[in-house]
This record gives sequence, C-alpha cells and structure tokens, in this order.
Amino acid sequence: MNFEHNGINLAYTVRGSGLPILLVHAFPLSGAMWTAQVHMLESHYQVIVPDLRGFGQSSVLTTPSTMPIMADDLYALLTHLRLQKVVVVGLSMGGYIAFELLRHYPRMVHALVLADTRATADPPEAQAARETNAQIAETQGAAAIAELMLPRLLAPDADPEVVAQVREMILATAPAGMAAALRGMAVRADATELLPYIRVPTLLIGGEQDVLTPPTVMQELQNAIDGSSLTLVPRAGHLPNLEQPEVFNTALLKFLHRI
Ligand code: MLT
Repeated sequence: MNFEHNGINLAYTVRGSGLPILLVHAFPLSGAMWTAQVHMLESHYQVIVPDLRGFGQSSVLTTPSTMPIMADDLYALLTHLRLQKVVVVGLSMGGYIAFELLRHYPRMVHALVLADTRATADPPEAQAARETNAQIAETQGAAAIAELMLPRLLAPDADPEVVAQVREMILATAPAGMAAALRGMAVRADATELLPYIRVPTLLIGGEQDVLTPPTVMQELQNAIDGSSLTLVPRAGHLPNLEQPEVFNTALLKFLHRI
C-alpha cells in the first residue's frame, strides 16, 4: 500500500489484526527484511511494515533523511492508520528512528524492541566515513555499497542464501536513498539521555558476532534501560532476524506474550 505525506510516497504493508507492531528496517535494506517476522506475527498481531523514505518502494529524495524526519514519516503513517499506540521494533537504523519516536511521540510507544543498535551519536571519524560512503553510493552505485557492507553485516559463516538475500536487497536500493540516509545518520542526535526515562517494556536483541554494534553495546543499553532484557543470538552478526530467524522470533514472541 501507499501513503502520500508531505509530497512523498511511503510504501507499507499491514497484515493481521491485534496489538499493532511496527517493524522498522535497517540500512540499506527495506521492509522486506522482516518477511520471516511478519509470517510469525501476522496470525496474532497487526504488523505494520514501512519502507522508509529512500528505500524499497518509497520515494527517494536527495535531501538528508534525518532520523527525526523518518520518525515523523512513521508518525504520520500511524496516524493515517488510526493507530495510537504500537510496539516499536527497530533494528540498527530502525533503532535510531525508534529513539526519535520515543523522543517526540512517547505516548505512541507501547513497548520497545531494539535490535543491533546504539544510542550514541556518530563521532567525527564515523561522520566522515558516512560522507565517503554517500559519495561512493552516488558515484559507484549500490553494488559498491554491497561489497563494502556485506562482510560487516553478516556473521562470517552466514548461510549463503541469507548472504544472497541481503545482497539482493542492497542492490535493489536506490543509491540516492542510501546517500540521503547516510547523511541523515551522520547528524543523528545522541539518545543516551533518553534511556533512564524509558518506562515501557523493552527487549534488546543483538547478534553475538555483530561487529557493527557488538554485544558490549547492547549490554550498555541493558544497563541503562530499567527493567530491560537482553537476548544475544548465537551465530548471528548485525542482522539476527535474517541470520537466525527462529531464535530472533522466539525471543520476540516471548516478549510480546509478556507485555
Ligand atoms: C544499519 O544496519 O542500519 C546500519 O548499520 C546503521 C549504521 O550504519 O549505523
């Protein structure tokens, strides 16, 4: 389905009925990364899966896709769907956006699942690397970004089918959308000061072999968010929902049953 907002088109799917769950994808992928979770959830929950601006079937803009802008897009989509409270599940960049939903629309967040993400902002070296990668995307295209990112996204012994699936998703992403999100992530605000105020049930999930947001980063989040629990997924890197969907889904379902 499509939703027009501020002159852009946001593509999304809604499946099932029950407690609404919003699945917010990572960079540089799309809502398609959640297929295994949608299959599991749709028989008991209402699952909302957007393609963020610049990704999947949504509009691609050249202005930076900042985290507050992408959170506003999602707020507008949820309002359009007449949803007042949702469980927000965000993986990596999806987690950065979840923090902005919490910051600006806290009443909308019924519970939180943060996977392979961090609350801290980019230090200057990381900001510079993002700009380099934005220019690589613009001049060399999605394939160059796939080659750069794939080895860091997945565990070293990842299933070749998963590697192929992630490569395909990256290759399907518009380079301009990648560049816009890289520039948006580079200027994201630090969310550390929000953590002690999180009062909603929170589940943290991380891949044991994630080199982008290693387990220590997830443990720091757990220490800072009162009452949160942490599941570390063995034999998974930065995308445990794709690499070990059964373990990821079991942790998610157990959490959803509890809230
Ligand atoms: C992601 O998976 O969304 C990205 O790795 C996030 C980032 O580059 O910080």
